Amino acid sequence: MTKEELVLEAREARKISYSPYSGFSVGAALETADGKIYRGCNVENAAYGPSNCAERTAFFKAVSEGEREFKQIAIVGGPSSDDISKYCPPCGVCRQVMSEFCDKDSFFIHLSDGNEIRTYTLGELLPLSFGL
Ligand code: THU
Repeated sequence: MTKEELVLEAREARKISYSPYSGFSVGAALETADGKIYRGCNVENAAYGPSNCAERTAFFKAVSEGEREFKQIAIVGGPSSDDISKYCPPCGVCRQVMSEFCDKDSFFIHLSDGNEIRTYTLGELLPLSFGL
């Protein structure tokens, strides 16, 4: 899938974000090595702590279905009341989850502000990552 198509998937995922507490809706679309797409949105909770980011929702959906190899992810986010207008880089926890399953040089992270797409490798966003 092209990065433009993957961003469109992430925008669809963002539409069903459950984010009544922050009012910040995030969508992600993750492509597996064999071309399957898993969408994810952020899912918040009244106790705040149990909330889950869009990226981890997508990863946990995929991994729990047996997927282990991934090519790329697109992420979009911003205030729920508006269309996206700024880049929404993944949080540190989500970067660490990506590093469990993805190669630092060949896994690509696409961010869109609704206009342009910026692409990074995982290694660029999480240098000197921890792993066993
Ligand atoms: N959020 C994500 O879904 N992904 C990120 O990478 C950053 C933050 C969510 C968590 C929370 O529901 C809301 O955005 C505001 O922090």
